[in-house]
Parts: sequence; C-alpha cells; structure tokens
Amino acid sequence: MKFELDDEIGQKRAFFKGLKGLFVMKVFLIAGARPNFMKIAPIYREALKHRRVQCSIVHTGQHYDYEMSEAFFEDLELPKPDFFLSAGSGSHAVQTAKIMVAFEELCRNEKPDLIIVVGDVNSTLACSVVAKKLLIEVAHVEAGLRSFDLAMPEEINRMVTDAISGYFFVTEESGAANLIKEGKSKDRIYFVGNVMIDNLFYQVGKLNGKMSEQFATAKIKEKLEYYAFLTLHRPSNVDTKSGFSEIIEALNLIAAKMPILFPVHPRTKKMMDEFNLRLSNNITLFSPLSFKESLFIWKDAKVVLTDSGGLQEETTALGIPCVTIRENTERPITIKMGSNILAGTKKTSILKAFEEVLIKPREQFRVPPKWDGKAAERIWKILLKK
Ligand code: UD1
Repeated sequence: MKFELDDEIGQKRAFFKGLKGLFVMKVFLIAGARPNFMKIAPIYREALKHRRVQCSIVHTGQHYDYEMSEAFFEDLELPKPDFFLSAGSGSHAVQTAKIMVAFEELCRNEKPDLIIVVGDVNSTLACSVVAKKLLIEVAHVEAGLRSFDLAMPEEINRMVTDAISGYFFVTEESGAANLIKEGKSKDRIYFVGNVMIDNLFYQVGKLNGKMSEQFATAKIKEKLEYYAFLTLHRPSNVDTKSGFSEIIEALNLIAAKMPILFPVHPRTKKMMDEFNLRLSNNITLFSPLSFKESLFIWKDAKVVLTDSGGLQEETTALGIPCVTIRENTERPITIKMGSNILAGTKKTSILKAFEEVLIKPREQFRVPPKWDGKAAERIWKILLKK
C-alpha cells in the first residue's frame, strides 16, 4: 500500500505553520494494525474540534494489504496518514524493530509534544518505547486491560506500554483496578469509556438502507433467515494444526445447525491452506471485509463467534450474543454484562457455549458505564486540561 501526501494534508500543514506564536499541542496519533484504525477515527475527528491541537496520523505499516488498511481509512472517513512508516510483516522482533527505527527518526525530525497509542499491537509498544526514551509524553488509550496470559504477544505489549505511559485512558473498571494493583498513581488513570464504541455508534448511524444494498454480501444476508458470524485470527487458535482442527470441528458442527459467515484474516487463510483444513459447505468464506460491511452482517447475526478483542466489546454494546473462542479475556466486563461467554478452545466447550448463549434472554444484557460514544471527547478534555 502506498500512502502519498495529498493536497489536503499539505494545506493542513501550511495552516499550522501559519499559527506560529500561538500555543499548539503537536500530537502524533499512532495506528498500525486493523483494530487500531477504528480506535483512532473518533480521536482524530474530535481533535479537529480543538484549535490548539495539531494532530497527525502516523501509520506504521504493520498492516498493509488494501483490505486490512487503506479500505479502513476510506470506510472510517480518516484522511490519508500524515506519515507512513512502511514497517510491514516479519517476526515480532523484526516488525517491532523496523517500526522503532523509523519512528525514532520521525520523532527526531518532527518533535511531537505527545503521542497517543491505542490498544495492544506491536505498533503500540514500539512507538511508546521510542517516544518515552526521547522524553515525549505517551497517552495509552485502552490501558490496564490484562488477560494475565504472557503467551499472548498483546499481553506483553499492554504491560510494557502501561509501564511507561503518562496517561492511562481506561475502558472498563478492571483496567483501572489492574493499573492500581501494578502501583500506578490514581491521578494518571482516567475512566473515559471506549473509543471503539464511539466509532461503532458513529458507524451504525451511517449504515443506511441504500448504502447496505451496495455490499456484495447483501444478497447472501438477504437469503438467510438466521446465521452466525465468525472471526478467527489469534496465533494461539490458528498457528497449530491440532488446535485449529479442533476449533474447526466445533465450527463444522455449529454449521450443521446454522449457516456461518466468515471473513478470513490473512494469517488464518495462510494457516488453513498450510494445514489443508476442510470447512463445512455451510460456512461461507469472504476476504477481509470493510468495517461497515462487517458491521452490516454481524449486527443482525443470531450469534457472533470470535477470538477478537474488539468484537467482544462491540457485541456487548449492541446486545448481540457472543461466543469468545479463547481461554481468557482481558475484557471481563463483556462477560459481566451478560452477552459474552468465554468458550475456551476445545470442541465440547465451544459447542456448550454456543448452546448456552442462544438461550440467554437478550433483555438481560447490559451495556457498561460510559460506553456512550463520548470517550474521545473526554480524552481531549483531559489532555487539554479543560
Ligand atoms: C495483529 C496484532 C493483533 C491484532 C491483529 C488484527 C500484534 C502482536 N498482533 O495480528 O493483536 O488482533 O493484528 O488483525 O500486533 N498479513 C497480510 N497482510 C496484512 C497484514 C498481515 O497478509 O496487511 C499476513 C502476513 O502474512 C503476516 C500475518 O498476516 O505475517 C500476520 O500479521 P501480523 O501483523 O504479524 O499479525 P496479526 O496476526 O495480523
């Protein structure tokens, strides 16, 4: 993917240069992988309301396929990134190192006052460490979440980022409790709600009938009376043949009862091909979908089956039953609210959770406090000390 600076960004830069003399907070908003893009969109939109903020988007290039990156920028109404670091794929060390080297050079040239990192991907960790060592303040959005599973690369990313951040913006009470247990000062912990949900509400509002008709999946959805929506990409689920086969056995049994719609992540596709795994004909595969098209499908699903962090939260916000195909979750509030069941990764446990979630009365599902679409607004108020 090639992001080139366009006129719009050139004009924005010229405008900020013209503000010389006024106090302007120069902020880098960091994104690298698909789940970051939904989180930076509301923060960026809100930044534009503040004249004292010069907010630039830095895309590390961790995800680079059109469907995994550029399509999301278009869909989420984000401008092209101001800076693109072209890190690409690689082992964790290679990917993290490439981002660090490129980001260090960028920070030395551009001297931001603050960087905002979101979530728990390698880009989050890499940019936080670089900034902090250059004495640039770091704000972590979605701080304090813990799965307590150090076999998960994201858990390491979360812990390292939180070890050095200056601002902790938390989405749920467990985030604040974990940070306090780790000795962080209460003064730096801000329970602001969830930017992922800000984005969700904004996008649900935009999904009007006409737009939905254009989706390639609309015809498939129309024909189905009910269906399940599936996403799967965690290395712990797809990177070993025995583990992945066991999950697929469960999914094939679920597919005998209910059609499954499955947009396939590049990692998952690679492993499915490598292990030569057979899926039921009742599971329809797609390439990765845009945010809106994916939402268009899962918001009306009978159940969502997933190992994603974001979907656990988004289904909770819209009250859709969710089966989480993982051994643990760093988002316990989604279970407490009633809509999400932690299924484990064994065939029998996944099937049991599937049966269980379907009979749960939906009217008992609740939405966590402050998941109201205003998290980004709260974040900027705090950063600007308003
Ligand atoms: C990363 C994040 C994970 C997040 C996920 C969402 C880390 C440690 N992991 O995992 O937290 O949930 O993104 O997607 O940061 N690939 C492509 N095209 C792309 C990107 C990746 O084909 O645009 C392929 C490559 O073969 C790559 C593999 O997918 O090796 C995995 O990509 P990578 O970014 O390493 O990790 P994810 O599994 O996507």
